[in-house]
Amino acid sequence: MFTGQLPDWLKSLSALTVLSLKKNLLNGSLPESLGSLENLRILVLSHNHFFGEVPDLRSLRNLQVFDLEDNSLGPQFPQLGSQIVTLILRRNKFNSAIPDKVSSYYQLQWLDISFNRFVGPFSPSLLSLPTITYLNIEGNRFTGRLFENLSCNDELEFVDLSSNLLSGSLPNCFLSDSKNRVVLYAGNCLATGDESQHPFSFCRNEALAVGILPHRQKPKHASKVVVALSMSGGIIGGITLVGLIFLVVRRVQAKKTTRAPPKSSIAENASTGYTSKLLSDARYISQAMMLGALGLPTYRTFSLEELEEATNNFDASTFMGEGCHGQIYRGQLKNGLLVAIRCLKVTKNHSIHNFMQHIELLSKLRHHHLVSALGHCFECYSDDSIVSRIFLVFEYVPNGTLRSWISGCAGRTLTWTQRIATVIGIAKGIQFLHTGIVPGVFSNNLKITDVLLDQNLAAKISNYNLPLLAENMGKVGSLSSAGSKENNARVKHEDKIDVYDFGAILLEVIVGRPSSSRNLVDVLKDQLQASITFNGAARRIMVDPAVQNAYSDESLKTVMEICIRCLHKNPADRPSIEDVLWNLQFAAQVQDAWQGDSQSSDGSPSRLSNLRAYS
Ligand SMILES: *[C@@H]1O[C@H](CO)[C@@H](O)[C@H](O)[C@H]1NC(C)=O
Ligand SMILES: *[C@@H]1O[C@H](CO)[C@@H](O)[C@H](O)[C@H]1NC(C)=O
Repeated sequence: MFTGQLPDWLKSLSALTVLSLKKNLLNGSLPESLGSLENLRILVLSHNHFFGEVPDLRSLRNLQVFDLEDNSLGPQFPQLGSQIVTLILRRNKFNSAIPDKVSSYYQLQWLDISFNRFVGPFSPSLLSLPTITYLNIEGNRFTGRLFENLSCNDELEFVDLSSNLLSGSLPNCFLSDSKNRVVLYAGNCLATGDESQHPFSFCRNEALAVGILPHRQKPKHASKVVVALSMSGGIIGGITLVGLIFLVVRRVQAKKTTRAPPKSSIAENASTGYTSKLLSDARYISQAMMLGALGLPTYRTFSLEELEEATNNFDASTFMGEGCHGQIYRGQLKNGLLVAIRCLKVTKNHSIHNFMQHIELLSKLRHHHLVSALGHCFECYSDDSIVSRIFLVFEYVPNGTLRSWISGCAGRTLTWTQRIATVIGIAKGIQFLHTGIVPGVFSNNLKITDVLLDQNLAAKISNYNLPLLAENMGKVGSLSSAGSKENNARVKHEDKIDVYDFGAILLEVIVGRPSSSRNLVDVLKDQLQASITFNGAARRIMVDPAVQNAYSDESLKTVMEICIRCLHKNPADRPSIEDVLWNLQFAAQVQDAWQGDSQSSDGSPSRLSNLRAYS
C-alpha cells in the first residue's frame, strides 16, 4: 500500500542488487537517480501507477531483470545495457518502435512487451536471439512481412504475435511439431488460410492509419508497399473506421477460438524465473557466446520431480558412483539430454539464501574443458526453509576417465598427439578456473581420474573445487575480502598447487602408469630429469610403450621439461599455467611438423606401419 513517488534517497543505497516494489500504489515518474544504482541486478516496479519516460539505465551494467508491467510508462522504449535477461514492459503506454539495439541483447531470455502501442516493423531477428525462450508482442501495432524461411532460436518455447499488423506467411519454425513450442498469432494478416487472420488489406490500411513511418525496414517488399500505399492514401480514412470495428470483433473471436493456454512448464518458469535469471552474470561479456559455442543449455533451476523422472526415482541402476562430494546418478532429461546428477547432503543449517552466491558462481563455471553445471535443485525441510539436499545437474561426459585411456586397460590408448591435445585441454580448463572468473577457483585437487573425455576425446575437468560443498561454505565467501596483500600471496600459492597436481597428471600421461605416492612421483621426476640431459634412447625408456616410435623426441623433451618444472618442490619455482600452456602448444606444433615430415617422406616401412598402428 505504499503511495507517492519513488524517493530520491534510493540512490544512496549503492550496494543494492535487488529492488522490488511491485503491487503498490506508487506514482509519479521514475527518478533519473535510478541510473546510479550500479549494482542493481533486479528491478521490479510492476503494478504501480508510474508514468512518463523511463530514465536512461544504460549505466546499470549488472541489470538483468527489469519488470515494469502494468504502469503508464512511455512512450519511448527504455534505454538499457545489452546484458539484460528479462524485460517486461507489458501493459504500459509505450508507442515507439523497437530500437535496433534490442537485436543485440545477446542474453535476453524473456521479452514481454505485450499490450502497448508499439509501432513499426517487427524485427524477425528477435525470434533468433541467442538465448530467447519467451517472446510476447501481443496487442501492439507491429507491421511487416514474415517469411517461411525465418529461423527461430531452438530454445524458444513461447511466442505470441497475436493482434498486430503482420502479414506474409507463417515461418516454418512455428509449425514444426518436434518442439514443445507454443505459438500464438491470431488477429494478424498472415496467409494461414484460416479465419483467425484479417485480410491483407486490413493490415495495410491500419498500418497507414496509425501513421507508421517506413522506418529503415530491411525487406525490400515493404518499401514498395509503402510507395504504393501513399498513392492510394486518399481513401484510407474511410476504411479505417470500418477496419477498427472489424478488428475489435475479430480480436474477441480470435481470443475465444485460437488461444491455447500456455503449458505449465512456462508458468513454472515464470515463478522461478528470477532465480535462474539471476544466475548468468553480466560481468562476463562472452558468457552467452561461450554457451552457444559449448552447445550447453542455459543454466536453470530443476524441480525435484524432473530429476526423479530423469533417474527413475534415483534407481540403483542409474547410480554411477560416490565421490567425496556425494553420490552421482546418471539421468536422462525429458528432451533426451543425458546428465550426471550429484546429490549433496547438507548437514549444517543453511537456507537457500546462504547458497545463492555459490550457485551463482557455479553457474558461471562453464568452459569447454570443464564438466559444466546445467542447473541445480534445492530440497528443503518442509517445516522451515532449511536446505536438506542440493542436487547439481552436470553435463554427462561419455568416454570415461583420462586414466582409462592411458593405461590402455580398456584396450584403447591415446597417441602422443592426442595426449598433448588432452593435456592442453586440461591446462586451459585450469586457466579458466584461475582467471576466467572473479574470484578464481583454486586448490582444485586435480586428479587424472577426474579428467573425463567427451565424445571427441576433449578433456573435461570434473570435481573442481565446487563452490557449493558444505565443507567449503564460508571459504568462497572470501569474495569480499579479495584484494588484500595477504590474500594475493595466498592466491599465488594456490594456483601453484594446481600446477603441481597438473604436473602429476602430465607425468602419468608421459610414462603411462599411475604413481601411487608422492614419493614415487619424486622418483619418476628425477628419472625424467636424467633422461632429458642424457639422450633420446634414455627418454624412450621412460615414455609409455604405447606411444613408442610415434612421437617426436623434441616434442617429448619439451613436455618432460615442463612436467618437471610443474613438480618443483618450491611452489614459487613452478611455472604459471600460461607458461605451461605455451610450452605444451609448442610441443604440439613440433609434433605436428614431425608427423607431417615423416608421413610425406618415404620413410622406412616399419616407421610408417607404426604410425598407422597408433593413429
Ligand atoms: C500520487 O499519489 C498521491 C497519493 O495517493 C496523490 O496525492 C497524488 O496526487 C498522486 N500524484 C500524481 C501526480 O498523480
Ligand atoms: C527468405 O525468403 C525470401 C522470400 O521468399 C527471400 O527473399 C529471402 O532471401 C530468403 N532468405 C533466406 C535467408 O533464404
